[in-house]
Amino acid sequence: MNAFFTAKEYLQWLINSKARHGIHSPFLYQFLDQCLYRESEKSLFEIPEKHRRNLKNDHTILEYIDLGAGKRNQRNNNSNKKIKRIEVRQIALNSLQQPRYCRLFYRMIKYFDCRNVLEMGTSFGVTTSYMSLAGAHVIIDSIEGAYPIAELAGNYFSENKFTNIILHRGNFDFILEDVISGKSYDLVFMDGNHRGSRTLEYFQKLIKHINPEGVVIIDDIRWSESMLNAWKEIKNHNDVTLSIDLFRMGIVFFDIRLKKQEFAIRF
Ligand SMILES: C[S@@+](CC[C@H](N)C(=O)[O-])C[C@H]1O[C@@H](n2cnc3c(N)ncnc32)[C@H](O)[C@@H]1O
Repeated sequence: MNAFFTAKEYLQWLINSKARHGIHSPFLYQFLDQCLYRESEKSLFEIPEKHRRNLKNDHTILEYIDLGAGKRNQRNNNSNKKIKRIEVRQIALNSLQQPRYCRLFYRMIKYFDCRNVLEMGTSFGVTTSYMSLAGAHVIIDSIEGAYPIAELAGNYFSENKFTNIILHRGNFDFILEDVISGKSYDLVFMDGNHRGSRTLEYFQKLIKHINPEGVVIIDDIRWSESMLNAWKEIKNHNDVTLSIDLFRMGIVFFDIRLKKQEFAIRF
């Protein structure tokens, strides 16, 4: 998305957005008051933050197929995929979730008493481990398609005994259905392939695997026009009731007791 479009989008979002006050939905008010705007004790997250620091200083070069770069209809032809050679520290600097969002996911898992969580796009496992710290009873399926990245994440999970994380290695396009088969999730975090069309396809596949009171978080909804269009389709989907637009990410609920309403919320 170009700078002008982003600035226009941001201005529009800012005009429409609210904080806690002026929110009449009791469900949303309570969520904002007791979860979104409630800070977590940062010392709980020393292990993931140490991992983040180490990654940011790691000059190891990784080589893998960039799943975000392949073209539609070329997914069986690896020769068309771009091989990426990149230092760990560069990936860590560019693609890891900011700590305040990681803490929000941790709080959401606790607040909604989630048991089964799915993360699409593990990367080095920083966010996954925040989610893992929400409780030993929480089971997290996390999928990563870049094998050398998944390797580092897997080592980090086992060295630090994050035993409630199940790491699945592979392309969402090929393994998502198997991973979610027979499962029902309370929280899904979509943070992988940032192509709008793919995001919509994954969302369609996921819908029947979300619990009635479940929640889906979609990252980078303004990454591109196609992602923004995907977000608009998702929040208008028949099964989605309440939706929250945090500008960077979108959150949707499916609970039929909630009114179909859209909110832009400052975070
Ligand atoms: C933005 S990063 C994830 C960051 C991570 N959730 C965090 O918060 O630290 C996106 C990850 O998704 C992975 N990915 C992208 N497209 C994918 C696909 N089609 N299948 C599997 N993994 C994919 C990338 O390799 C990358 O590691």
